[in-house]
Amino acid sequence: MNDAGADVYVVTGGGGGLGRALCAQAASGGAHVVVVDIGESAASVADDLIACGLSAEAASCDVSRREEVEALRARLTGRGVVPTVVTNLAGATRNAPLAQVTEQDFDHTLATHARGTLNMMWAFAPAMKERGYGRIVNTSSVAARGSPTGMSYVAAKGAIEAMTRTAAIELARHGVTVNCVAPGGVDGGMFRMQPEKAQEHMLSRTPMRRVADPNEIAACYMFLASRGASFVTGQTLYACGGASVGAFL
Ligand SMILES: NC(=O)c1ccc[n+]([C@@H]2O[C@H](COP(=O)([O-])OP(=O)(O)OC[C@H]3O[C@@H](n4cnc5c(N)ncnc54)[C@H](O)[C@@H]3O)[C@@H](O)[C@H]2O)c1
Repeated sequence: MNDAGADVYVVTGGGGGLGRALCAQAASGGAHVVVVDIGESAASVADDLIACGLSAEAASCDVSRREEVEALRARLTGRGVVPTVVTNLAGATRNAPLAQVTEQDFDHTLATHARGTLNMMWAFAPAMKERGYGRIVNTSSVAARGSPTGMSYVAAKGAIEAMTRTAAIELARHGVTVNCVAPGGVDGGMFRMQPEKAQEHMLSRTPMRRVADPNEIAACYMFLASRGASFVTGQTLYACGGASVGAFL
């Protein structure tokens, strides 16, 4: 059980496959959830939660743009909505192997995943620090350990893991933990956007030989966002059916 009751969650990428599951778990646990996305989907996720009698609101925001993130922070705090939990799942990926990667695709992928994560931590960590309590949970991927086709994505996720460790050190003495979830293949969302062959390849390298249900991954965020995870910081939790361990799989 999570103790989300007193929490205000901000979930970026909340309109996506994983974000949607996390918003539902957080709201069901009693938290108020701010569903943040660049697309229309944020509103439909928030509406669905509200229709179930849960507490949620939608916010349209491009997390790669600092002025939009700052405006989001100002809008929320201006209404007395002060997040205790910030979860960063947003990102758009343009992948290609080294020989074909373009500077534009590389910059776009880094901007949405890594700069977006940076912007959110930059905007929301100061109030957490001041309050002496906060939980930030970022998102990497098992692909951060190396992938045959994903130069830009791997760079972005590697950066997020490094930023997580560094922010954790900076905020540790202020009651704010910073951790990261690194999923393997998850049903829905980005995994299913990949070519079938790539999906099969990933499954063949996953000891559990299956993808995760989004709720299995959302549960990892919920743990790291909970009050009970008070002595865990700077960590990346690989939730990938064993794909991050072993060699010659
Ligand atoms: N699905 C998987 O198999 C898998 C595996 C490992 C890691 N991940 C990571 O989990 C996270 C969520 O993945 P998903 O499968 O739900 O993907 P998804 O594509 O379904 O969701 C991503 C969401 O981010 C939003 N977004 C994109 N750019 C944005 C921006 N600039 N500002 C705000 N929102 C933006 C999109 O609109 C989308 O709703 C991502 O960070 C992804 O890299 C997913």
